[in-house]
Amino acid sequence: MMTVPTLSGPVPARGAGRPTLGAQLLRRKPIAQMVEEAEAGQGGPRLVRSFGVLQLTMISVGATLGTGILVILGESVPLAGPAIWISFAIAGLAALLSAVSYAEMAGLVPVAGSSYSYTYATMGEGMAWICGWCLVLEYAVSVAAVAVGAGQYVNETLAVFGSVLPDAFSQPPGDGGVVNIPALVIVVLATVLLVRGAKESAWINTSIVVVKVGILVFFCAVAFTAFNAGNFEPLLPMGAAGVSAAASRVFFSYIGFDAASTAGEEARNPKRDLPRAIMLSMLIVTTIYVLVAVAAIGARPWGWFDGTEAALVKILEEITGQPWMALIFAAGAVLAIASIVLTVLYGQTRILLSMSRDGLIPAIFGRVSRRTGTPVAGTLLVGIAVALTAGLVPLGALADATSIGTLFAFALVNVAVIYLRRARPELERTFRVPLFPLTPILGALMCVYLMVNLGADTWATFAVWMLVGLAAYFGYGRRNSKVAALDNEEYLELSATAATRPCPVKP
Ligand code: ALA
Repeated sequence: MMTVPTLSGPVPARGAGRPTLGAQLLRRKPIAQMVEEAEAGQGGPRLVRSFGVLQLTMISVGATLGTGILVILGESVPLAGPAIWISFAIAGLAALLSAVSYAEMAGLVPVAGSSYSYTYATMGEGMAWICGWCLVLEYAVSVAAVAVGAGQYVNETLAVFGSVLPDAFSQPPGDGGVVNIPALVIVVLATVLLVRGAKESAWINTSIVVVKVGILVFFCAVAFTAFNAGNFEPLLPMGAAGVSAAASRVFFSYIGFDAASTAGEEARNPKRDLPRAIMLSMLIVTTIYVLVAVAAIGARPWGWFDGTEAALVKILEEITGQPWMALIFAAGAVLAIASIVLTVLYGQTRILLSMSRDGLIPAIFGRVSRRTGTPVAGTLLVGIAVALTAGLVPLGALADATSIGTLFAFALVNVAVIYLRRARPELERTFRVPLFPLTPILGALMCVYLMVNLGADTWATFAVWMLVGLAAYFGYGRRNSKVAALDNEEYLELSATAATRPCPVKP
């Protein structure tokens, strides 16, 4: 195998050939170069390739199915009325169109950085940084929000035994408590598992996914026994606007299907299996969501959901009259949420690994331990930050901002597909978006449509987040970028070499 210059190693001194700000923001990272680095590691050990299509699908389902269907479904019924299942279908369509684009990009750029890497390869460093920064919203912040939700289900479980955790230990300071212990414990446990090894984590995740799919199927089976078609009349009491608003809200339920694309460097055959896993997981979760939504509305009139917490548990309890049913469901829900924390935390550490490899964030996030084959230091840092956030911060508006950040990243992936088809038509694609360019154009438009439907507060939070991100880029990333630090000749040589050599990962 011929050797190519790599971007790993010390940052070269800033020389006369360093690009201007405009040129640096637009500098793209060659795709084959990304793959080369992933294969070579950062001078140290590389991630271990242990995942097949089943585990990859389970990573995506594990990261997706949870709080959205367990909590947000009930909260969104008053917005849309019986048409809530249409809201799920609309949000699912936006996610599906983007998933198709993810599948094409994942087959083309099978590294750990997900849409951050795709954007770096297509739109350059500036957009890649913005995308990576949005992914922190999608991953780290959402995981804290999701873990906070687990506290409610821990209490639902304990309630069956006649006791609940006092607010002091189940709520953060701003919400009348001291610390949210369940949220903190779940994040700490997930971090310990991830440090031990990705393969062990994947095995545990797969088992939990089976449990959570099981409890939702169980819910549908029970709820359909009380099905009343009259509950669907009138279908649109809140009008089309209500359905749209609910669609933006329940979009949160689909966040996470892209998690498999963060496992590109641990997949045995990423070019073949990543697209399959992404599409398969979308199919599984969309089917389950629409079925659960129809079953829930069929079982109870839409007005019943207003002000009802943990609606699915209540429906089960009311239909069967058996508290143990609620116990099983609530315990399963805690596990479901725990698996999201595990897989999303995993994804965040892998995205940060890619960003650190490029010098945009400190090198500690990219160091893979020789002993475990995982980025131990980076995982611990992320785990501690997320545990503290989950335990101490009432997330409120920040959690809402998760969706807007995710939609933005998804829109970028759709644009990246269009760009690469035009700019690099010769590249080998193991999965191709059907009906190109209609599908990615529609995908990007759907994402923008759902973003526009989110409230002004969410936009304000997003704006603040982006300003902090810009400060971080100009304070650190811009100075330490390894792609930018190459002088022009080196960069051109690297691009030319990388463009003509075959991808080292088997197709
Ligand atoms: N999709 C994830 C959930 O619903 C974030 O919890």
